[in-house]
Amino acid sequence: MDAERFSVETRAVHAGRADLTALGVHVPPIDLSSTYPLPDVEAGGEAYETLATGHARQEGQSAVYQRLWNPTVARFEEALATLEGAQTSVAFASGMAALTATLLSCVAAGRPHVVAVRPLYGGSDHLLATGLLGTRVTWADASGVADAIEADTGLVIVESPANPTLDLVDLRALCEQAGEVPVLVDNTFATPVLQRPLELGASIVLHSVTKFLAGHGDVLGGVVATSEELATRIRSVRAITGGSLHPLAAYLAHRGLQTLPVRVAAQQDSAQVVAHWLAEHAHVEKVFYPGLEGGDPLGLIGEQMAGPGAVLAFDLGSYERAAAVAQGCELISHAVSLGGVDSLIQHPAALTHRPVSGDAKPGAGILRLSVGLESPEDLIADLGNALAAAGA
Ligand SMILES: Cc1ncc(COP(=O)(O)O)c(C=O)c1O
Repeated sequence: MDAERFSVETRAVHAGRADLTALGVHVPPIDLSSTYPLPDVEAGGEAYETLATGHARQEGQSAVYQRLWNPTVARFEEALATLEGAQTSVAFASGMAALTATLLSCVAAGRPHVVAVRPLYGGSDHLLATGLLGTRVTWADASGVADAIEADTGLVIVESPANPTLDLVDLRALCEQAGEVPVLVDNTFATPVLQRPLELGASIVLHSVTKFLAGHGDVLGGVVATSEELATRIRSVRAITGGSLHPLAAYLAHRGLQTLPVRVAAQQDSAQVVAHWLAEHAHVEKVFYPGLEGGDPLGLIGEQMAGPGAVLAFDLGSYERAAAVAQGCELISHAVSLGGVDSLIQHPAALTHRPVSGDAKPGAGILRLSVGLESPEDLIADLGNALAAAGA
């Protein structure tokens, strides 16, 4: 689908569906085949070679095996690439599987050094800190990326907005510092509705599909949107190591994309209301939200990012009070994850960012709130009750 011609709302509804009319169906069929018929040994072998080396499937070729290719997954990949303005995308069983394959593709290319800008999602931080995949990490702040690059740096990793403090990084400036080294932007919090990092100079966009893209709390998935050249390397790692997205999850994620722009807009509107209310609350020491005054010191909202998004964090000053509020909410579920239609609250230092070391760990009084599609008044009433009980 022509990304230049249509708005993000239109692309979200129609992308990855071009073949449906010819198939005589209105919604994408879910192909659950784990294996596929081979016309003959020769052609089957050629198809295997194409797919296992990470190349795009050629028209008419057998899909060979679900780990190598699947039409339901391919439709989701096409839709997401269209939304991010990428040549292509590669879908995975989780966001962490997507990051793993990307890092392994750097190791395989002989460039195992990674420059990572903190804060990152705790799982990404953990993966890099352990060096489990053979990578070597240098932690940098956003202005120190150029200095951190070494001869074998294969990747710069950054999140904006960052999890969980909602820090915004000037991505264009960061990509300039990285020079020839590919920059991976984790765009999970912003979604392509609010921010398209490839237009700012990034080479790879990563999403936990589990969050806003799928949006209903029933899918675990990940994806990277990138150039065909980098995708070939990443797909070959997926083919070999096997972190593929299940077609049923791909179907649900593809359906989720259709309502992504309206969900993000509505959830963001409510998040602004909730953030302002929290900022006025006597028990709240600080609210982390780029939509509040002082929350966007670099002036990136309206430039790099169309809006502040639907996730915020707030500091209650102590672990005890934060734990009491997380447990005290009734309408808002006390659960990790974010970006779904229902609001979720969690304590990053105890949960999502538990493995993060030392100073990089979020403060003990901080809670992260993902604002869903409930009315902001109901969310405020729930938070008000929990805060009142915790403060008593
Ligand atoms: C910003 C961000 N990136 C990546 C991930 C990892 O994604 P997944 O949980 O789908 O593996 C998460 C999960 O919380 C996340 O919040």
